[in-house]
Amino acid sequence: MKIVVLDGYTLNPGDLSWEGLEALGEVALYDRTDEKDIVARVGDAEYVFVNKTPMKRETLQQLGNLKFIGVLATGYNVVDVDAAKEFGIAVTNIPTYGTTAVAQYVFALLLEICHHVGEHGNTVKQGEWSRSADFCYWHYPLIELAGKTMGIIGMGRIGKNAAKIANAFGMKVVAYDEYQDSSIVSDQLQYVELDRLFAEADVISLHCPLFEGTKGIINKSNIGKMKDGVLIINTSRGPLIVEEDLAEALKSGKVGGAAVDVLSQEPPGMENPLVKAPNTIITPHIAWAPKESRKRLMDIAVANLEKYLQGTPVNVVNA
Ligand code: NAI
Repeated sequence: MKIVVLDGYTLNPGDLSWEGLEALGEVALYDRTDEKDIVARVGDAEYVFVNKTPMKRETLQQLGNLKFIGVLATGYNVVDVDAAKEFGIAVTNIPTYGTTAVAQYVFALLLEICHHVGEHGNTVKQGEWSRSADFCYWHYPLIELAGKTMGIIGMGRIGKNAAKIANAFGMKVVAYDEYQDSSIVSDQLQYVELDRLFAEADVISLHCPLFEGTKGIINKSNIGKMKDGVLIINTSRGPLIVEEDLAEALKSGKVGGAAVDVLSQEPPGMENPLVKAPNTIITPHIAWAPKESRKRLMDIAVANLEKYLQGTPVNVVNA
């Protein structure tokens, strides 16, 4: 039984083990794969794992033996799931491995905007505090979160976790989701329509998946509905934001700050408008990557294939 991992490096750069998968079959392991090499590498294998390697209709069409694609991530927009379904290929994802890590990371980004800990720490190492006339100094407006309102778009697993942390900081949460869970509504957490969220939120955090309907949800028109100085956090998917529009709003000060872990193209070109935009923090898609969550991801990926082989598939996204 042949299993091909097309881009395994980011999941396991060497600090985890592939032995769970190796126990199920003969594994061909590639750190990364160019699109043009997918067909040759998969060959007649029936089982494939991908993280960000695109599996388009025209590629799937050429992989006659393929039965199973295990996406090594939560978001599975890299696979044409409708085409896969048409060709009888099950696509699985890993729904929950990174929930707590990503929610924690939202606040790593937000707190960096509020305090610029890293940059202030660097100025001390460079001697600025030693040279300072005063007992303290700061280079950015410092922001307190308590009493502010966090708008969460996409109140799923990560959104709900981020909301709990926001509440713990003393923030009120307004959430927008197509499906509402009344059990979590409280004095400090309400579902609202999207326009009301835009109007009320001091901080907006994106947690909806990337679909046609959510693509570009942060655009010029919607930014116009937001509070002046609003902060925007994106740990979901880059194309949720029209990057040119956000960069313009950061330049004008309409948006007070943005912190994103994801961009429309990854890795980005240096011409990406957010790279040079003011008050912007960009990190290289690391919200998911603490070792604890990658280990969970690996275990669930193995279990997804195991269950599929036993005839009781789980986490199938194109059933
Ligand atoms: P989830 O499926 O639990 O939650 C997504 C929520 O979005 C659901 O409640 C759904 O009803 C809602 N939704 C769907 N369409 C919507 C719309 N049009 N408007 C508003 N809400 C809508 O997913 P989870 O686990 O919370 O993950 C969310 C996203 O986070 C993933 O799709 C993925 O893109 C991203 N992610 C990013 C990571 C990173 O390393 N930066 C790691 C893991 C996930």
